Amino acid sequence: MSGLRIQAQHLRKQFRQSANGVLITAIEQLDFVIEPGEIVAVVGSTGCGKSSLFDVMIGLQAPTAGRLLIGDREPYRDFNGFRGLIATVFQQDRLMPWRSSLDNVCLPLELIGLAPDEQHRRARGWLERLGLAAFTDAYPHELSGGMRQRVAIARAFVLQPAILLADESFGHLDEVTAAELRETFVALARECGSTAVLITHQLEEAMSVGDRVLVFAKPATVLADIRVADWPAERRGELREAIQLTLQSNRCDERIARLAVQQPADAVIEQLGARDKHEQSDQAIKANGR
Ligand SMILES: Nc1ncnc2c1ncn2[C@@H]1O[C@H](COP(=O)(O)OP(=O)(O)O)[C@@H](O)[C@H]1O
Ligand SMILES: [Mg+2]
Repeated sequence: MSGLRIQAQHLRKQFRQSANGVLITAIEQLDFVIEPGEIVAVVGSTGCGKSSLFDVMIGLQAPTAGRLLIGDREPYRDFNGFRGLIATVFQQDRLMPWRSSLDNVCLPLELIGLAPDEQHRRARGWLERLGLAAFTDAYPHELSGGMRQRVAIARAFVLQPAILLADESFGHLDEVTAAELRETFVALARECGSTAVLITHQLEEAMSVGDRVLVFAKPATVLADIRVADWPAERRGELREAIQLTLQSNRCDERIARLAVQQPADAVIEQLGARDKHEQSDQAIKANGR
């Protein structure tokens, strides 16, 4: 299935803390468009609202204001309509301990009512592709962390989803395993034509994945929208430093903004928009006392 467009339009998400009734702004004035088939990394510091965005994208949470559209529909308002279209990979593999690898991968196919033979055929195919042919009958406790995450990736791809969402999916694994799984994830997403969003607090992870990196302020709004390919290989170090400073200062680093000036007019407008929003988010942060 080919990917769908994801759009945030003036999206805001607030939570009221149950203990003291204080209103927390997790997402503030968030605007972006991710085109069908794009692979985008979202990077932001811990607590900046990334998982809140994830929950809005999978339809678990309603926006407080604004809209989040996948295709032309809102996941929260049309939860069942998105069954089989969105697949997720979380930090915890969230496998069912009482099901074998094969039965875990079959689960989403069961939910969309596919015949058992076809479920098994597809699930086996994906487990083989992820190097787990010898472990189809193994249970999660018999697998290493990396292998469990491979089962979770197989379970996501078995749907051939239009949208793939990963929230801090690889950061807890050792660097070699994480790098290998990231590469597999991106290669499969490209092959499927899915629109993929990989959320992370790790800059290295974001830069190694995305065609495009969205840098989030706290609360979540776009500080910088970077097309990594626009930066020649010899300037990647500088880009990394500029994103790091952007994250630390909650302001778009000048070098990123400067490059935008050399880009086509629509990209410049996009960048300037992000900076305007940043000014607003500055005020929001002050207003929140955070
Ligand atoms: N269900 C909730 N109730 C109250 N506050 C929440 C809830 N979910 C998230 N928050 C708050 O929203 C902010 C953003 O959280 P989150 O989206 O998890 O950030 P991230 O994933 O970037 O670390 C935090 O201040 C967090 O405490
Ligand atoms: Mg999170």
